Amino acid sequence: MSRRGWTTRFGFYLAAVGSACGLGNLWRFPYIVGENGGGAFVLLYVFLAFTVGLPILIGELLLGKIARKSVVPALQGIETREARIPFHLVGTLGVILSLVVLSYYAVVSGWVLHFLVQFVVELFGRHVVQGEISLSRLLSNGWLQMGLASVHLLVTIVIVMKGFSEGLERTVAVVMPAFALLLAGLFWQALSLPSATQALRFIFYPDFSQLTSGSLLQALGHVCFTLSVGFGVMVTFGSHLSEDVHVPTAAFRVMVLDTVLSLLSGLLIFSIALSASNVPMSDPGLLFEALPQFLLGLPGGVIFGIAFFLCLYLAALAASIGLLESVVANFMEVQGLRRARATWIAGIGALVVAVFPAVSSNFLLHFRPFGKGILEFLDSFLINWYLPPVAILIAWIFVRNANQLELRENFITAEQPETVTLFPYWIFILRWVAPGVIALGVLLQVFGVF
Ligand code: PHE
Repeated sequence: MSRRGWTTRFGFYLAAVGSACGLGNLWRFPYIVGENGGGAFVLLYVFLAFTVGLPILIGELLLGKIARKSVVPALQGIETREARIPFHLVGTLGVILSLVVLSYYAVVSGWVLHFLVQFVVELFGRHVVQGEISLSRLLSNGWLQMGLASVHLLVTIVIVMKGFSEGLERTVAVVMPAFALLLAGLFWQALSLPSATQALRFIFYPDFSQLTSGSLLQALGHVCFTLSVGFGVMVTFGSHLSEDVHVPTAAFRVMVLDTVLSLLSGLLIFSIALSASNVPMSDPGLLFEALPQFLLGLPGGVIFGIAFFLCLYLAALAASIGLLESVVANFMEVQGLRRARATWIAGIGALVVAVFPAVSSNFLLHFRPFGKGILEFLDSFLINWYLPPVAILIAWIFVRNANQLELRENFITAEQPETVTLFPYWIFILRWVAPGVIALGVLLQVFGVF
Protein backbone atom coordinates (compact mmCIF):
# COMPACT_ATOMS: atom_id res chain seq x y z
CA MET A 1 0.00 0.00 0.00
CA SER A 2 1.40 3.40 -0.82
CA ARG A 3 1.26 5.86 2.06
CA ARG A 4 1.59 9.59 2.24
CA GLY A 5 4.69 10.41 4.20
CA TRP A 6 5.43 13.52 6.20
CA THR A 7 5.96 16.53 3.98
CA THR A 8 9.45 16.96 5.37
CA ARG A 9 11.74 14.73 7.38
CA PHE A 10 11.49 17.32 10.11
CA GLY A 11 7.72 16.90 9.92
CA PHE A 12 7.95 13.50 11.53
CA TYR A 13 9.84 14.95 14.48
CA LEU A 14 7.24 17.61 14.86
CA ALA A 15 4.41 15.12 14.87
CA ALA A 16 6.13 12.65 17.18
CA VAL A 17 7.16 15.37 19.59
CA GLY A 18 3.65 16.80 19.38
CA SER A 19 2.26 13.45 20.39
CA ALA A 20 4.75 12.82 23.17
CA CYS A 21 4.68 16.28 24.73
CA GLY A 22 1.33 17.18 26.15
CA LEU A 23 -0.72 17.00 29.28
CA GLY A 24 1.39 14.04 30.34
CA ASN A 25 4.32 16.37 30.96
CA LEU A 26 2.60 19.35 32.50
CA TRP A 27 -0.46 17.89 34.15
CA ARG A 28 0.26 14.25 34.91
CA PHE A 29 3.97 14.19 35.66
CA PRO A 30 3.96 16.70 38.55
CA TYR A 31 1.06 15.14 40.36
CA ILE A 32 2.34 11.57 40.21
CA VAL A 33 5.75 12.80 41.35
CA GLY A 34 3.92 14.45 44.26
CA GLU A 35 2.04 11.23 44.94
CA ASN A 36 5.29 9.26 45.03
CA GLY A 37 7.29 11.59 47.20
CA GLY A 38 9.63 13.39 44.77
CA GLY A 39 13.30 12.74 43.91
CA ALA A 40 13.56 8.97 44.17
CA PHE A 41 10.56 8.56 41.91
CA VAL A 42 11.94 11.05 39.40
CA LEU A 43 15.20 9.13 39.27
CA LEU A 44 13.34 5.88 38.74
CA TYR A 45 11.26 7.50 36.03
CA VAL A 46 14.27 8.89 34.13
CA PHE A 47 16.10 5.58 34.43
CA LEU A 48 13.11 3.66 33.07
CA ALA A 49 12.58 6.16 30.25
CA PHE A 50 16.08 5.39 28.95
CA THR A 51 16.17 1.67 29.62
CA VAL A 52 12.60 0.54 28.96
CA GLY A 53 10.68 3.39 27.31
CA LEU A 54 13.23 4.13 24.60
CA PRO A 55 13.62 0.50 23.45
CA ILE A 56 9.83 0.12 23.26
CA LEU A 57 9.52 3.40 21.35
CA ILE A 58 12.13 2.22 18.85
CA GLY A 59 10.21 -1.07 18.54
CA GLU A 60 6.87 0.59 17.79
CA LEU A 61 8.29 3.02 15.25
CA LEU A 62 10.17 0.24 13.48
CA LEU A 63 7.14 -2.03 13.44
CA GLY A 64 5.25 0.72 11.61
CA LYS A 65 8.10 1.63 9.34
CA ILE A 66 8.78 -1.94 8.23
CA ALA A 67 5.14 -3.02 7.87
CA ARG A 68 3.93 0.34 6.48
CA LYS A 69 0.74 -0.33 8.40
CA SER A 70 -0.88 0.57 11.70
CA VAL A 71 -0.62 -1.63 14.75
CA VAL A 72 -3.44 -4.15 14.22
CA PRO A 73 -2.69 -5.01 10.58
CA ALA A 74 1.06 -4.79 11.23
CA LEU A 75 0.83 -7.42 13.97
CA GLN A 76 -1.51 -9.43 11.78
CA GLY A 77 1.24 -9.49 9.15
CA ILE A 78 3.69 -11.02 11.60
CA GLU A 79 1.07 -13.54 12.65
CA THR A 80 0.50 -15.01 9.25
CA ARG A 81 4.20 -15.30 8.58
CA GLU A 82 5.24 -17.00 11.76
CA ALA A 83 2.59 -18.46 14.00
CA ARG A 84 -1.08 -19.06 14.48
CA ILE A 85 -1.42 -16.97 17.64
CA PRO A 86 -3.75 -13.96 17.17
CA PHE A 87 -1.11 -11.31 17.89
CA HIS A 88 -3.27 -8.59 16.43
CA LEU A 89 -5.55 -8.79 19.48
CA VAL A 90 -2.79 -7.06 21.45
CA GLY A 91 -2.95 -4.27 18.89
CA THR A 92 -6.71 -4.13 19.37
CA LEU A 93 -6.15 -3.68 23.11
CA GLY A 94 -3.95 -0.69 22.29
CA VAL A 95 -6.61 0.81 20.02
CA ILE A 96 -9.33 0.42 22.67
CA LEU A 97 -7.00 2.06 25.17
CA SER A 98 -6.45 4.98 22.80
CA LEU A 99 -10.17 5.62 22.61
CA VAL A 100 -10.76 5.54 26.36
CA VAL A 101 -7.66 7.63 27.11
CA LEU A 102 -8.74 10.12 24.45
CA SER A 103 -12.04 10.51 26.26
CA TYR A 104 -10.61 11.56 29.62
CA TYR A 105 -7.75 13.41 27.94
CA ALA A 106 -10.53 15.44 26.30
CA VAL A 107 -12.03 16.26 29.69
CA VAL A 108 -8.69 17.55 30.99
CA SER A 109 -8.12 19.41 27.70
CA GLY A 110 -11.51 20.99 28.40
CA TRP A 111 -10.17 22.25 31.73
CA VAL A 112 -7.29 23.87 29.85
CA LEU A 113 -9.76 25.48 27.47
CA HIS A 114 -11.76 26.78 30.43
CA PHE A 115 -8.72 28.46 31.97
CA LEU A 116 -7.79 29.93 28.60
CA VAL A 117 -11.24 31.49 28.30
CA GLN A 118 -11.09 32.73 31.90
CA PHE A 119 -7.84 34.53 31.24
CA VAL A 120 -9.22 36.07 28.06
CA VAL A 121 -12.26 37.28 30.00
CA GLU A 122 -9.94 38.69 32.62
CA LEU A 123 -8.07 40.60 29.92
CA PHE A 124 -11.23 42.20 28.66
CA GLY A 125 -12.04 43.79 31.90
CA ARG A 126 -14.57 41.64 33.69
CA HIS A 127 -12.26 41.75 36.59
CA VAL A 128 -12.24 38.33 38.11
CA VAL A 129 -11.46 38.41 41.79
CA GLN A 130 -8.33 36.44 42.57
CA GLY A 131 -9.35 32.97 43.56
CA GLU A 132 -12.30 32.93 41.26
CA ILE A 133 -10.29 31.36 38.46
CA SER A 134 -10.30 28.09 40.26
CA LEU A 135 -10.60 24.47 39.37
CA SER A 136 -13.15 23.57 42.02
CA ARG A 137 -15.85 25.73 40.46
CA LEU A 138 -15.30 24.03 37.13
CA LEU A 139 -15.24 20.58 38.68
CA SER A 140 -18.60 21.09 40.28
CA ASN A 141 -20.16 21.84 36.89
CA GLY A 142 -20.72 18.62 34.95
CA TRP A 143 -22.50 20.22 32.01
CA LEU A 144 -19.71 22.69 31.46
CA GLN A 145 -17.12 19.94 31.53
CA MET A 146 -19.10 17.87 29.05
CA GLY A 147 -19.48 20.91 26.81
CA LEU A 148 -15.79 21.71 26.88
CA ALA A 149 -14.76 18.09 26.27
CA SER A 150 -17.20 17.97 23.32
CA VAL A 151 -15.73 21.12 21.81
CA HIS A 152 -12.27 19.65 22.14
CA LEU A 153 -13.30 16.35 20.57
CA LEU A 154 -15.09 18.08 17.72
CA VAL A 155 -12.01 20.14 16.89
CA THR A 156 -9.92 16.96 16.99
CA ILE A 157 -12.42 15.12 14.77
CA VAL A 158 -12.45 17.89 12.16
CA ILE A 159 -8.66 18.00 11.96
CA VAL A 160 -8.28 14.22 11.74
CA MET A 161 -11.00 14.03 9.13
CA LYS A 162 -9.07 16.36 6.88
CA GLY A 163 -6.06 14.03 6.94
CA PHE A 164 -3.75 14.86 9.70
CA SER A 165 -0.13 15.05 8.78
CA GLU A 166 0.13 18.50 7.25
CA GLY A 167 -2.12 20.32 9.69
CA LEU A 168 -0.42 18.68 12.61
CA GLU A 169 3.05 19.46 11.36
CA ARG A 170 2.23 23.08 10.82
CA THR A 171 0.56 23.53 14.21
CA VAL A 172 3.32 21.82 16.14
CA ALA A 173 6.02 23.71 14.26
CA VAL A 174 4.63 26.97 15.61
CA VAL A 175 3.43 25.85 19.00
CA MET A 176 6.41 23.93 20.29
CA PRO A 177 9.04 26.69 19.99
CA ALA A 178 6.55 29.24 21.38
CA PHE A 179 5.77 26.95 24.26
CA ALA A 180 9.46 26.33 24.98
CA LEU A 181 10.09 30.08 25.13
CA LEU A 182 7.12 30.69 27.33
CA LEU A 183 8.01 27.92 29.73
CA ALA A 184 11.55 29.25 29.90
CA GLY A 185 10.13 32.68 30.83
CA LEU A 186 7.85 31.25 33.50
CA PHE A 187 10.60 29.06 34.75
CA TRP A 188 12.80 32.09 35.19
CA GLN A 189 10.08 33.80 37.22
CA ALA A 190 9.45 30.71 39.32
CA LEU A 191 13.15 30.30 40.07
CA SER A 192 13.13 33.62 41.83
CA LEU A 193 10.51 32.35 44.29
CA PRO A 194 11.93 31.49 47.70
CA SER A 195 10.50 27.99 47.30
CA ALA A 196 12.61 27.24 44.21
CA THR A 197 15.43 25.58 46.14
CA GLN A 198 12.90 23.52 48.02
CA ALA A 199 11.42 22.43 44.68
CA LEU A 200 14.87 21.55 43.32
CA ARG A 201 15.48 19.47 46.39
CA PHE A 202 12.08 17.83 46.19
CA ILE A 203 12.61 16.78 42.59
CA PHE A 204 16.29 15.93 42.50
CA TYR A 205 17.15 14.71 45.97
CA PRO A 206 16.31 11.02 46.01
CA ASP A 207 14.84 9.93 49.31
CA PHE A 208 14.21 6.25 48.63
CA SER A 209 12.11 5.80 51.72
CA GLN A 210 9.39 7.74 49.91
CA LEU A 211 8.93 5.02 47.30
CA THR A 212 6.04 2.64 47.79
CA SER A 213 5.33 -0.81 46.45
CA GLY A 214 3.30 0.79 43.65
CA SER A 215 5.98 3.26 42.53
CA LEU A 216 7.68 0.98 39.99
CA LEU A 217 4.45 0.29 38.14
CA GLN A 218 3.44 3.96 38.29
CA ALA A 219 6.80 5.02 36.86
CA LEU A 220 6.54 2.43 34.07
CA GLY A 221 3.01 3.49 33.28
CA HIS A 222 3.95 7.11 33.10
CA VAL A 223 6.97 6.40 30.89
CA CYS A 224 4.70 4.59 28.42
CA PHE A 225 2.03 7.29 28.62
CA THR A 226 4.35 10.22 28.11
CA LEU A 227 6.21 8.54 25.23
CA SER A 228 2.86 7.52 23.69
CA VAL A 229 3.82 3.85 23.48
CA GLY A 230 1.43 0.93 24.00
CA PHE A 231 -1.38 2.69 22.14
CA GLY A 232 -0.26 1.88 18.62
CA VAL A 233 0.09 5.62 17.97
CA MET A 234 3.82 5.42 17.34
CA VAL A 235 3.27 2.45 15.00
CA THR A 236 0.99 4.64 12.90
CA PHE A 237 3.58 7.44 12.95
CA GLY A 238 6.32 4.99 11.99
CA SER A 239 4.25 3.78 9.06
CA HIS A 240 4.52 7.24 7.49
CA LEU A 241 8.28 7.57 8.04
CA SER A 242 10.45 8.05 5.02
CA GLU A 243 13.12 5.43 4.36
CA ASP A 244 16.05 7.66 5.21
CA VAL A 245 15.05 8.34 8.84
CA HIS A 246 17.14 6.35 11.29
CA VAL A 247 14.56 5.23 13.83
CA PRO A 248 16.75 4.70 16.94
CA THR A 249 18.19 8.22 16.57
CA ALA A 250 14.76 9.75 16.04
CA ALA A 251 13.33 7.88 19.04
CA PHE A 252 16.25 8.93 21.22
CA ARG A 253 15.71 12.60 20.40
CA VAL A 254 11.99 12.43 21.04
CA MET A 255 12.57 10.70 24.38
CA VAL A 256 15.21 13.18 25.55
CA LEU A 257 13.08 16.17 24.64
CA ASP A 258 10.05 14.73 26.35
CA THR A 259 11.99 13.91 29.53
CA VAL A 260 13.58 17.36 29.72
CA LEU A 261 10.16 18.96 29.31
CA SER A 262 8.75 16.86 32.14
CA LEU A 263 11.60 17.72 34.49
CA LEU A 264 11.31 21.42 33.75
CA SER A 265 7.58 21.45 34.20
CA GLY A 266 7.94 19.53 37.46
CA LEU A 267 10.37 22.16 38.73
CA LEU A 268 8.09 24.96 37.61
CA ILE A 269 4.95 23.53 39.16
CA PHE A 270 6.57 22.53 42.44
CA SER A 271 8.29 25.90 42.87
CA ILE A 272 4.86 27.44 42.61
CA ALA A 273 2.96 24.83 44.60
CA LEU A 274 5.45 24.89 47.47
CA SER A 275 5.19 28.65 47.76
CA ALA A 276 1.40 28.50 48.11
CA SER A 277 -0.25 27.11 51.18
CA ASN A 278 -3.26 25.28 49.89
CA VAL A 279 -2.23 23.43 46.76
CA PRO A 280 -2.80 19.66 46.72
CA MET A 281 0.57 18.17 45.75
CA SER A 282 -0.56 14.70 44.79
CA ASP A 283 -3.86 15.35 43.12
CA PRO A 284 -4.83 15.69 39.44
CA GLY A 285 -5.78 19.28 40.27
CA LEU A 286 -2.17 20.25 41.03
CA LEU A 287 -1.33 22.10 37.80
CA PHE A 288 -4.66 23.88 37.69
CA GLU A 289 -4.65 24.88 41.34
CA ALA A 290 -1.07 26.09 41.33
CA LEU A 291 -0.45 27.91 38.08
CA PRO A 292 -3.38 30.31 37.53
CA GLN A 293 -2.97 31.97 40.92
CA PHE A 294 0.74 32.36 40.34
CA LEU A 295 0.16 33.85 36.89
CA LEU A 296 -2.38 36.31 38.18
CA GLY A 297 0.18 37.56 40.67
CA LEU A 298 2.78 38.32 37.98
CA PRO A 299 3.05 41.67 36.26
CA GLY A 300 1.48 41.08 32.86
CA GLY A 301 0.29 37.77 34.24
CA VAL A 302 -2.95 37.75 32.29
CA ILE A 303 -1.07 37.83 28.99
CA PHE A 304 1.27 35.12 30.27
CA GLY A 305 -1.82 33.15 31.30
CA ILE A 306 -3.42 33.43 27.88
CA ALA A 307 -0.19 32.46 26.12
CA PHE A 308 0.45 29.56 28.48
CA PHE A 309 -3.01 28.03 28.31
CA LEU A 310 -3.15 28.55 24.56
CA CYS A 311 0.10 26.68 24.07
CA LEU A 312 -0.92 23.99 26.54
CA TYR A 313 -4.21 23.62 24.75
CA LEU A 314 -2.54 23.25 21.37
CA ALA A 315 -0.11 20.71 22.82
CA ALA A 316 -3.07 18.75 24.22
CA LEU A 317 -4.74 19.03 20.82
CA ALA A 318 -1.68 17.65 19.01
CA ALA A 319 -1.60 14.69 21.42
CA SER A 320 -5.34 14.09 20.95
CA ILE A 321 -4.95 14.19 17.18
CA GLY A 322 -2.29 11.48 17.43
CA LEU A 323 -4.60 9.32 19.54
CA LEU A 324 -7.61 9.68 17.27
CA GLU A 325 -5.58 9.35 14.08
CA SER A 326 -4.19 6.04 15.21
CA VAL A 327 -7.66 4.66 15.98
CA VAL A 328 -8.93 5.92 12.64
CA ALA A 329 -5.95 4.50 10.73
CA ASN A 330 -6.58 1.08 12.25
CA PHE A 331 -10.30 1.26 11.42
CA MET A 332 -9.53 2.26 7.86
CA GLU A 333 -6.91 -0.41 7.30
CA VAL A 334 -8.74 -3.27 8.99
CA GLN A 335 -12.38 -2.55 8.20
CA GLY A 336 -11.80 -0.74 4.92
CA LEU A 337 -13.81 2.26 6.16
CA ARG A 338 -13.46 5.67 4.58
CA ARG A 339 -11.63 8.30 6.62
CA ALA A 340 -14.65 10.48 7.35
CA ARG A 341 -16.76 7.59 8.53
CA ALA A 342 -14.01 6.03 10.63
CA THR A 343 -13.30 9.40 12.26
CA TRP A 344 -16.93 10.01 13.20
CA ILE A 345 -17.39 6.52 14.62
CA ALA A 346 -14.24 6.78 16.75
CA GLY A 347 -14.87 10.40 17.72
CA ILE A 348 -18.43 9.81 18.83
CA GLY A 349 -17.32 6.71 20.71
CA ALA A 350 -14.83 8.86 22.64
CA LEU A 351 -17.47 11.50 23.22
CA VAL A 352 -19.85 8.99 24.82
CA VAL A 353 -17.14 7.60 27.09
CA ALA A 354 -16.05 11.15 28.02
CA VAL A 355 -19.37 11.72 29.80
CA PHE A 356 -18.22 9.56 32.72
CA PRO A 357 -15.00 11.37 33.64
CA ALA A 358 -16.76 14.69 32.95
CA VAL A 359 -19.38 14.01 35.62
CA SER A 360 -17.06 12.26 38.05
CA SER A 361 -16.59 15.34 40.21
CA ASN A 362 -20.23 16.41 40.26
CA PHE A 363 -23.22 14.21 39.33
CA LEU A 364 -21.32 11.01 40.16
CA LEU A 365 -19.32 12.52 43.01
CA HIS A 366 -20.20 9.69 45.34
CA PHE A 367 -19.36 6.92 42.93
CA ARG A 368 -15.77 6.24 43.89
CA PRO A 369 -14.29 2.99 42.57
CA PHE A 370 -11.32 2.03 44.79
CA GLY A 371 -11.72 5.32 46.64
CA LYS A 372 -11.01 7.44 43.55
CA GLY A 373 -13.15 9.67 41.34
CA ILE A 374 -13.91 8.15 37.90
CA LEU A 375 -11.36 10.27 36.05
CA GLU A 376 -8.61 9.47 38.49
CA PHE A 377 -9.61 5.82 38.55
CA LEU A 378 -9.53 5.56 34.75
CA ASP A 379 -6.18 7.31 34.64
CA SER A 380 -4.53 5.19 37.30
CA PHE A 381 -6.07 1.86 36.29
CA LEU A 382 -5.41 2.23 32.58
CA ILE A 383 -1.99 3.79 32.76
CA ASN A 384 -0.56 1.72 35.60
CA TRP A 385 -2.11 -1.69 35.05
CA TYR A 386 -3.23 -1.92 31.46
CA LEU A 387 -0.75 0.16 29.48
CA PRO A 388 2.67 -1.27 30.47
CA PRO A 389 1.84 -4.92 29.65
CA VAL A 390 0.26 -3.95 26.31
CA ALA A 391 3.25 -1.74 25.45
CA ILE A 392 5.77 -4.44 26.13
CA LEU A 393 3.70 -7.13 24.42
CA ILE A 394 3.55 -5.16 21.17
CA ALA A 395 7.31 -4.63 21.16
CA TRP A 396 8.02 -8.18 22.36
CA ILE A 397 5.90 -9.81 19.67
CA PHE A 398 7.60 -7.63 17.09
CA VAL A 399 11.22 -8.37 17.98
CA ARG A 400 10.56 -12.06 18.53
CA ASN A 401 8.78 -12.66 15.28
CA ALA A 402 10.00 -10.08 12.80
CA ASN A 403 12.63 -10.89 10.24
CA GLN A 404 15.89 -10.48 12.20
CA LEU A 405 17.80 -9.35 9.15
CA GLU A 406 15.30 -6.58 8.53
CA LEU A 407 15.61 -5.50 12.16
CA ARG A 408 19.39 -5.33 11.89
CA GLU A 409 19.27 -3.36 8.67
CA ASN A 410 16.97 -0.81 10.20
CA PHE A 411 18.83 -0.49 13.47
CA ILE A 412 22.45 -0.53 12.42
CA THR A 413 23.79 2.36 10.42
CA ALA A 414 27.31 3.00 9.20
CA GLU A 415 27.02 6.63 10.27
CA GLN A 416 26.77 5.55 13.90
CA PRO A 417 29.10 2.64 14.56
CA GLU A 418 27.83 2.30 18.14
CA THR A 419 24.58 0.93 16.76
CA VAL A 420 26.42 -2.36 16.12
CA THR A 421 27.00 -2.72 19.86
CA LEU A 422 23.58 -1.41 20.84
CA PHE A 423 21.55 -3.70 18.58
CA PRO A 424 21.88 -6.92 20.65
CA TYR A 425 21.17 -4.91 23.83
CA TRP A 426 18.00 -3.53 22.31
CA ILE A 427 16.78 -7.03 21.43
CA PHE A 428 17.78 -8.37 24.83
CA ILE A 429 15.98 -5.59 26.69
CA LEU A 430 12.77 -6.07 24.75
CA ARG A 431 12.85 -9.84 25.02
CA TRP A 432 13.82 -10.22 28.65
CA VAL A 433 14.48 -7.11 30.68
CA ALA A 434 11.38 -5.04 29.97
CA PRO A 435 8.93 -7.94 30.48
CA GLY A 436 10.81 -8.80 33.69
CA VAL A 437 10.64 -5.23 35.02
CA ILE A 438 6.94 -5.03 34.27
CA ALA A 439 6.26 -8.39 35.91
CA LEU A 440 8.18 -7.16 38.96
CA GLY A 441 6.18 -3.93 39.00
CA VAL A 442 2.90 -5.85 38.92
CA LEU A 443 4.03 -8.23 41.66
CA LEU A 444 5.17 -5.40 43.91
CA GLN A 445 1.92 -3.56 43.38
CA VAL A 446 -0.16 -6.67 44.06
CA PHE A 447 1.72 -7.33 47.27
CA GLY A 448 1.24 -3.73 48.19
CA VAL A 449 -2.47 -3.92 47.54
CA PHE A 450 -3.23 -7.14 49.36
N1 PHE B 1 2.12 11.42 25.39
C1 PHE B 1 1.00 12.28 25.54
C2 PHE B 1 1.23 13.19 26.73
O1 PHE B 1 2.21 13.06 27.39
C3 PHE B 1 -0.28 11.51 25.70
C4 PHE B 1 -0.52 10.59 24.59
C5 PHE B 1 -0.54 9.24 24.80
C6 PHE B 1 -0.67 11.07 23.31
C7 PHE B 1 -0.70 8.38 23.75
C8 PHE B 1 -0.84 10.21 22.24
C9 PHE B 1 -0.84 8.85 22.49
O2 PHE B 1 0.42 14.03 27.01
